[in-house]
Amino acid sequence: MIPLSVPNLSGNEWKYVKDCLDTNWVSSVGSYVNQMEEVSASFCGVAKAIATSNGTSALHIALLLAGVERGDLVILPNITFVAPANVIKYLGADTVLIDVYEDTWQLDVDLLKKFLEEECIYQDNACYHKATGRKISAIVPVHVLGNMVNLDMLLPLAESYNIQVVEDATESLGSTYDNKPAGSFGLFGCLSYNGNKIITTGGGGMILTNNIELAKKAKHLTTQAKVDGIEYYHDEIGYNYRMVNILAAIGVAQMEQLPGFITHKRNISKLYTEGLKNIKGFKPQKTTDKVISNSWLYTAVFERSKQLFEYLEQHGVQTRPFWVPMNRLPAFASDIYYNENDVAGNVYSNCLSLPCSTGIANEEVEKVIEKINQFYA
Ligand SMILES: Cc1ncc(COP(=O)(O)O)c(C=O)c1O
Repeated sequence: MIPLSVPNLSGNEWKYVKDCLDTNWVSSVGSYVNQMEEVSASFCGVAKAIATSNGTSALHIALLLAGVERGDLVILPNITFVAPANVIKYLGADTVLIDVYEDTWQLDVDLLKKFLEEECIYQDNACYHKATGRKISAIVPVHVLGNMVNLDMLLPLAESYNIQVVEDATESLGSTYDNKPAGSFGLFGCLSYNGNKIITTGGGGMILTNNIELAKKAKHLTTQAKVDGIEYYHDEIGYNYRMVNILAAIGVAQMEQLPGFITHKRNISKLYTEGLKNIKGFKPQKTTDKVISNSWLYTAVFERSKQLFEYLEQHGVQTRPFWVPMNRLPAFASDIYYNENDVAGNVYSNCLSLPCSTGIANEEVEKVIEKINQFYA
């Protein structure tokens, strides 16, 4: 079976993990955690990075510190992995799901603008949803599949309504918009090092920010809000959302390889697009001129995608459908879904992600291309 996306641990991972075991620094503090934070901040072009237990916990703390409160509304694209939607609920808020663009599958910022202009009101320096009177406190642009949201439009719009931006950059580590790294635009950016991401720590995440005070606060909240190094005094409700040193050691080794991984992913993407271009109805995800994607997970629209999925499964190629849109999940079905044509539903029904591990050989990509061409022939 050619797997969809598996980790590639071919660098210094063993060496650094052994170092942790040899020195007993296996738990929630240690030099690799510090290194992982420093190297991530520098790679993503932000002042500070705070390591977390996973991307979901990073989003939780980022949204909490962005000021999301019980009863608020938070804007999210209807096509996303479920984690940011869950986090909004952890905080006692609800989502406003906005449909996505038909070609990039990112948050439709034109539609968002219309929603804010027609359905919301700006007063006392805040934005309120007219029908419910609820405050819209944050926007989470999810940079889906390594592609990026139209930030030229989104950032001024958010600013004009005084809505905080928390980027979900979990899939777009290494992608850039106007040559600036994903995760460096909002008040916070969040990363994930889950096993299927472009680099992995097994499980892990990162909060990125240029705000030094908020960075301190994020570290504090992710480490049980303990004030003193010795005394067990906690000045508020904290969380145990730390990344452990042994996993950070894997992360440091992975970061060393990240530029090579990105090059490989982009190469895979080119091979697929070229090799599949003559198939009727085939449409890969579009990136706009300002975006250079990390090509994290190659996904395209295919005719009869369900049958193609089964055919490839039978022929040793693992593929995956896109996420079920949030408005179709029970926890979010009664939230606002602002759309004109339910593009998200359409994208979901017709997309398939293809194998693109950073360790995949060109011959394996050629085999997948051959099988897909055979199916349509
Ligand atoms: C868009 C998106 N947001 C958030 C997450 C959550 O990250 P984690 O699995 O590390 O909690 C993921 C990946 O899993 C994701 O793809």
